[in-house]
Amino acid sequence: MPLTRPSNHADISMGLSQRPARISPKYFYDQHGSRLFEAITQLPEYYPTRTETALMQQHAADIARSVGTGRTLIELGAGSCQKARTLCQLVQPACFVGVDISADFLQDAVAAMSADLPWLDVRAVGGDMTQGVHLPDDIPRTGRLVFYPGSSIGNFDPPHALQLLAHMRELIDDDGGLLIGIDLPKDVTVMEAAYDDAAGVTAEFNRNVLRHVNRLIGSDFDVAQWQHRAFFNTEESRIEMHLEATTDAQVRWPGGERAFEQGERIHTENSYKYPLPVFTDMLARAGFSQAQAWTDERGWFAVVHARP
Ligand code: TRP
Repeated sequence: MPLTRPSNHADISMGLSQRPARISPKYFYDQHGSRLFEAITQLPEYYPTRTETALMQQHAADIARSVGTGRTLIELGAGSCQKARTLCQLVQPACFVGVDISADFLQDAVAAMSADLPWLDVRAVGGDMTQGVHLPDDIPRTGRLVFYPGSSIGNFDPPHALQLLAHMRELIDDDGGLLIGIDLPKDVTVMEAAYDDAAGVTAEFNRNVLRHVNRLIGSDFDVAQWQHRAFFNTEESRIEMHLEATTDAQVRWPGGERAFEQGERIHTENSYKYPLPVFTDMLARAGFSQAQAWTDERGWFAVVHARP
């Protein structure tokens, strides 16, 4: 066991003791959370997945030419591997490596992918992206393409995002690349609706983190006492998600407790929206000096192929 890494218990109880309290978004993704997240990506209000997919389809030939075939495709936060499947058809990699924190969910997705694409060497690696990805030694180093779709980079604050991009640079050699999706700033009502849908799926996804935390640290959150809040913070250029206490709430767990007043919030997620030039500058600082970007007509989303 690595001693430098705090246990879930220490990490979560520390976050809950802060003012304001916070829970790391990585705890969203238990089995149920991963399923809810898949449902979010299908919602009418949730434009990022749909826009990214359409972009990749529209510019498929261009992207394939830019990226090249026969690569070792490494998807970070692979989830259902749905996007990687499409990309695999397009760029015919020699090997696909799915990396995700929700190892059980990933195993199933990777098995299904292997059945559908029998020509492809498919691997699953369970890992927490926020701690740096460690790939098994037998994954080829040359010709790697790191794939990080869905604007997931936006879920880290800028210094941490930069650190992650630099880590991705370390995962590849000079002949490698990064294909990354980023959500761009746009009309606030469009962005806010995407994180607060009418059917309440995102609310359920947000509240589910409390159930997961209850299981992980033995806390006694009453999920019914918490409501979903999502809004755009213009100064920080980010969507923020919080859980807000609908009543005074007392939460206990082995080794700790916290009293919340009605209206008090737990910060659970940020989703930064970077203007394209700001993002390419960040890529350059992480060691990717070449970047080719594709955007949709509305300028809502960008897919960027970055190279050292
Ligand atoms: N990275 C995506 C985004 O920020 C997906 C995502 C992560 C998300 N956490 C979320 C979407 C929470 C909705 C709610 O849009």
